[in-house]
Amino acid sequence: MDPQDVLSLCKRRGFLWPSYDIYGGMAGMYDFGPLGVALKNNIENHWRWLYVLQEGFLELSCPLVAPEPVFKASGHLDTFSDMYVECTKCGETYRADHLAKDLHENPATLNEEQLGGLLRAKEVKCPSCKGDLTEPRRFNLMFKTMVGAGKAKAGYLRPETAQGMFVNFQQVYRLGRERLPVGAVQVGKAFRNEISPRQGLIRLREFHQMEAELFVDPEDKTWPRFGSVKGEKLVLVANTGEAKELTLEQAVRDKVIANEVLAYFMWLTHRFAADIGLDPARMRFRQHERTEMAHYASDCWDLEAELGYGWIELVGVADRGCYDLSAHIGHSDADLTAFERFEEPKEVEQEAVKVRFDVMGKMFKGETKAVAEALSKMPVDSLKRRKEVAVQVGGKSYSVPSECFDVCMRREKVTGRKFVPHVIEPSYGVDRIVYAVMEHAFSRSKKEDGDYVTLRLKGLVAPYKAGVFPLMAKDGLDDIASGVHASLSAAGMHAYLDDAGSIGRRYARMDEVGTPCCITVDYQSKDDGTVTIRDRDSSEQRRIKKENVVLAVTRLVSGAGLKALEGL
Ligand code: GLY
Repeated sequence: MDPQDVLSLCKRRGFLWPSYDIYGGMAGMYDFGPLGVALKNNIENHWRWLYVLQEGFLELSCPLVAPEPVFKASGHLDTFSDMYVECTKCGETYRADHLAKDLHENPATLNEEQLGGLLRAKEVKCPSCKGDLTEPRRFNLMFKTMVGAGKAKAGYLRPETAQGMFVNFQQVYRLGRERLPVGAVQVGKAFRNEISPRQGLIRLREFHQMEAELFVDPEDKTWPRFGSVKGEKLVLVANTGEAKELTLEQAVRDKVIANEVLAYFMWLTHRFAADIGLDPARMRFRQHERTEMAHYASDCWDLEAELGYGWIELVGVADRGCYDLSAHIGHSDADLTAFERFEEPKEVEQEAVKVRFDVMGKMFKGETKAVAEALSKMPVDSLKRRKEVAVQVGGKSYSVPSECFDVCMRREKVTGRKFVPHVIEPSYGVDRIVYAVMEHAFSRSKKEDGDYVTLRLKGLVAPYKAGVFPLMAKDGLDDIASGVHASLSAAGMHAYLDDAGSIGRRYARMDEVGTPCCITVDYQSKDDGTVTIRDRDSSEQRRIKKENVVLAVTRLVSGAGLKALEGL
């Protein structure tokens, strides 16, 4: 389907529209209108219900701006970039991999040279003026700002909500009673200075995320509730082969999905998407190619939906390993480790850091003792395979080359095991999900007077739960309708009172914005206290008692259908 049909409905009916329109707009920014806010809130609240109430994650809300050291540690400052090319004639910029999308199976896996070579070989020109393009250049996607006046410090708008949860690991671990697994979630805005944001809501510069960071023991990636979903099936496109429909149990057993935790959260993601109305027949999980993965991920599966734009990633479920916590350990004084206490102290042979004082002494002179002590306290995992490590002493950072220490095996009596937890991260792009829900719900039929659009939104996410119509705005029918509307509002259901135009037009207005049912107050209502209730998807109606309206709407919104209204 043409995304423009959905986007024009969005604008016409007050879901969404491009921002700053009166000044010519600003690419990659969208305003949410009243219906869009309601739809987005309903989606976010269902996500919270699933992650916070059902799965027990702890919700945080951190600042949008973070100081530079956070992103130095996370790797975003050095590696969070895309490649762009510029037209030497008109100056337009383009994402280099997007220009190569029909020339290569997966251009996101190519480096600057490969991509430049491909564009040159295929003589790709500027799409708008046919001018010559520059070679691809890297561009960091973070928005920089200065925090404070005078000796201001650099800060960045967060490119993901995730870092707020990693830097707070100590709080999360403590609040989770120092047990793993423990998870944090955050719902909020993130920012990426995209090179050429196009495709409506799919690629925005300011966008909303719902992210969960689950901290797990790296030696135990089993999951207690895996058994309850292991027979469920997912469509999986692994980076080694074709699309297959497998049960979660088969996928983990055959190592298509690396572990139970990853598999469980892929399933939870699929369940969430189906709950909010995405069509399971137009969903799949695609595994990232090794070269396509974000700098922090060791494995990643995207939930993709088939849309007018093609297959589009809505959610990434990544195994970030110990990357993030180790990085923040390496750049701060914080102890971001977990501890498993043994029932009895154990004699174990384990990896330990052995400082080479001869080498270190020459480099660090009088500071050697303090630097060596701080180095010895760092988790061994964060020191391995590093050319140099940043060691913090009294707020000062020392760069210690790997010649200064060895990692060796040592027998020791220990009371427990200290380790850097691994992170499993389901990361949801809210704006894309809002768009995908609208597109999958969009249905058009032909009527005598033209096209008739029905948005078949699930009641759970629909902005209005009911339309309320007095047949005539007089004779007391309007007062009864106001009373029905007030009872729905009091019950927390957003309803729309409409007394203008024919009943057919009023139904059409509600169908077009996805309202699951409409209640009409007519002259019979005055006589016997009943109203009619019409179900959007079947267009069928029932008469129910006015005092049962809240119950009836609740049942229709839950998807129970008209049969659930018997006796009301
Ligand atoms: N935290 C993952 C992402 O923002 O893509």
